[in-house]
Amino acid sequence: MKNLDTKRLLLRQWSIEDIEDFHELMCNPACMIGGWKPSSCREDSLNILKSYIETDGIFAIILKECGKAIGFIKIYPDNNRGKYYAKMINYLLNENFWNNGYMTEAVTCMVSYAFEDLNVDLLSAFTTPQNTSSKSVLKKSGFIYELTIENGFKRYDNEIFDSVIYSISKEDYYKK
Ligand SMILES: CC(C)(COP(=O)(O)OP(=O)(O)OC[C@H]1O[C@@H](n2cnc3c(N)ncnc32)[C@H](O)[C@@H]1OP(=O)(O)O)[C@@H](O)C(=O)NCCC(=O)NCCS
Repeated sequence: MKNLDTKRLLLRQWSIEDIEDFHELMCNPACMIGGWKPSSCREDSLNILKSYIETDGIFAIILKECGKAIGFIKIYPDNNRGKYYAKMINYLLNENFWNNGYMTEAVTCMVSYAFEDLNVDLLSAFTTPQNTSSKSVLKKSGFIYELTIENGFKRYDNEIFDSVIYSISKEDYYKK
């Protein structure tokens, strides 16, 4: 997995040395807004971190000014697009760093990576109607609202949400 670079951020593979920052990220109940189950102990976080290290397409988001891992962004296959080569993204940021434009910066970088390096036909993301911040990040990064699937998302705790789907096509990307 290659490293990706933005003005303030480095996107790179996770490493075991990131465990303290990763645990801080994953034990905060704020991660539930994005659908993740908060980890209950360091051991839980370590197991998740090991699986992230082994999985292609899960980037740690590193704040260059201090070297801290403040979140992650994942890019993985979107298998609901038939003939199109499509990928989907999702992301989580440490709550202490929200509303500084960091995730918009990371998502914008991932959009370029998806089209220019991976050569996808389409990049998508889904969120919930309640997740104002995530919807804002997607719109600011050039995603276009596609549709809402009623009751389309079941969270780990079985709570059901509508699923709001956004995407960018290759054509839209190169038109910009
Ligand atoms: C969603 C998330 C990644 C956003 O990260 P972030 O770095 O704070 O995002 P940005 O700062 O780039 O943008 C957030 C935008 O939402 C806006 N926003 C936040 N709360 C808002 C609200 N209640 N109403 C309107 N806008 C809101 C902010 O003003 C900001 O827009 P601006 O830059 O135009 O001011 C972060 O909140 C998070 O990790 N949430 C939990 C996980 C999650 O929801 N992941 C997405 C799964 S779909």
